[in-house]
Amino acid sequence: MMANIKYPLIDIIAGARPNFMKIAPIIRAMQVWQQSGGGMRYRLVHTGQHYDARMSNDFFVQLGIPEPDANLGVGSGSQAEQTSAIMVRYEKLLLDQCSDLCLVVGDVTSTMACSIVAQKMGVKVAHVEGGLRSGDWSMPEEINRMVTDAITNYFFTTSEAANQNLRRSGIPDERIFFVGNTMIDTLLANMDRLRPPVFRDELGLETGQYFVVTLHRPANVDETSQLQAMLMAIGNGCRDLPVIFPVHPRTAKTMREMDGLPDNIKLVEPQPYLEFNYLVKHAKAVITDSGGITEETTVMAVPCLTLRDTTERPETVVIGTNELIGTDPTGLKPALDRLFAGEWKQGDIPEKWDGKAGERIVTVMEQLFDQFNV
Ligand code: UD1
Repeated sequence: MMANIKYPLIDIIAGARPNFMKIAPIIRAMQVWQQSGGGMRYRLVHTGQHYDARMSNDFFVQLGIPEPDANLGVGSGSQAEQTSAIMVRYEKLLLDQCSDLCLVVGDVTSTMACSIVAQKMGVKVAHVEGGLRSGDWSMPEEINRMVTDAITNYFFTTSEAANQNLRRSGIPDERIFFVGNTMIDTLLANMDRLRPPVFRDELGLETGQYFVVTLHRPANVDETSQLQAMLMAIGNGCRDLPVIFPVHPRTAKTMREMDGLPDNIKLVEPQPYLEFNYLVKHAKAVITDSGGITEETTVMAVPCLTLRDTTERPETVVIGTNELIGTDPTGLKPALDRLFAGEWKQGDIPEKWDGKAGERIVTVMEQLFDQFNV
């Protein structure tokens, strides 16, 4: 899409899988806004941090996200390699055509890298999902959140906990907009479209009679011994029920060196959005080290066991169905025993997780351009 000189141009940045479901409702709301005569324009920038069909393109197709206007094509690399490649290429894009606002989402490397470049080029930054904190500096995502939020002008937040974190760090209320959760917008918009993966019948998956597992954090998957111990505890703790494990590319590398797994663990490719959330919706429970999935399970009222010691999303524990089990594999069995005994909490849905965050963000951006001449 070409920028219209008269109208403000917003860069919408997406780089890795968990970004795609967060940008989809914002782009949809922008399109509705434009169709009704609104003047803001956007440029969708894909950094290329995730590039496989299964990690990227499948999500664009299923969620109806348009082709990116720019693809920076950075690909794999260490944290520093990815960060620097994104920065150099995004700077070039801004030099070719500058934008008026850089909208970043979530906490991935692309989020941080683009926000630094934009702010140094005099482009204001808005952060969707700003203010989340796990307090765990060993997670690259926590560094990304802290750096991004330190140079963000406008915060679009998902929770009161995030608002409080921002206030505590001295951000005035005028820069904090509690809009709700765009990831949940996407989930609610697609709930009726969820569909079973091809292997459902082959594996005999019945509602409430199988588990879903996802693992990709360095603390769980980079050491063969830790990953093996975790998968043994999962396989045994889930008794005889099938455990569907879509294997993240990072995890696949470590799995090649492993000796064998409990028979009930079924390895599958990373799943597209509609199939993955179908699996989650009908599962007995999810076992994960992801952050976003703890929000989706909360909304679908599916029990979630998180294999981390901290969370940046405390409402999924306090209000929702999530529980922090930790990274010690011995913590799993007692939790699974409680689940099998029917003693898991019911949970509720956090405030403003109602499917309207994307619309609220577009409304606020319009006001920002009007009031503050962003
Ligand atoms: C990244 C995000 C994390 C997010 C996760 C979801 C950061 C710091 N982390 O972690 O917040 O939850 O994505 O997936 O940004 N790879 C492929 N195909 C792809 C993409 C990656 O094979 O399409 C490989 C890479 O070559 C690399 C590994 O997967 O070896 C990890 O990818 P990377 O982008 O470094 O980070 P993630 O661990 O996926």
